[in-house]
Amino acid sequence: MCNPIRLAVLVSGSGTNLQALIDATERGELDGRIVRVVSDRPGAYALARAEKHGIPVRVLVRKDYRSREEYEEALAEELRTSEADLVLLAGFMRILSGTFLRHFPQRVMNIHPSLLPAFSGLDAQGQAWAYGVRVTGCTVHFVDEGMDSGPIILQAAVPVLDGDTRDGLAERILEQEHRIYPEAVRLYQTGRLRVEGRKVLILSKEADGQ
Ligand code: GRF
Repeated sequence: MCNPIRLAVLVSGSGTNLQALIDATERGELDGRIVRVVSDRPGAYALARAEKHGIPVRVLVRKDYRSREEYEEALAEELRTSEADLVLLAGFMRILSGTFLRHFPQRVMNIHPSLLPAFSGLDAQGQAWAYGVRVTGCTVHFVDEGMDSGPIILQAAVPVLDGDTRDGLAERILEQEHRIYPEAVRLYQTGRLRVEGRKVLILSKEADGQ
């Protein structure tokens, strides 16, 4: 058996992905617990979600630090103190540099609302909708120093329907996000992910020793 995983979640906004992760741990679908939620925005609703479930929260605001490096060191220190095994970005609106990432090699994941590498960056749902693609979706990936560019773990496709609005499409993408993010964490926790360069191999269940 693998050990329960200690998760830290970084947020900036409403926190529906955080909620999906909380629910997965509470239902026992994910063997682990969220040991810290950190927001860079004091009013983020995600903080209220965490507090409701008794999860310790912390707000670290970039402007309270002299440089990006100092900010990222403080963030890393906070997560190291919480003894997090894996860091999950869930709507965290900052790009992390090597200053932070070197503390958590291959231990930071992100969820992005498009089928990467298409439509990286802000408002990926709106970009896909405006472009007129027939299929978009979401991606869970390991975080590297680029923007939405790290090795891809899981993706889910979502069709764009005739007459779709940007918001209707975003809502259906979000449903898939809530499914694949806990699933990616479960694969990690059970030792089934192996990163080989840009590629992430998903090992068979037999290989995880469970
Ligand atoms: C999601 O669409 C996620 O893919 C993106 O930011 C949004 C966060 O939503 N990175 P929420 O805060 O989890 O509701």
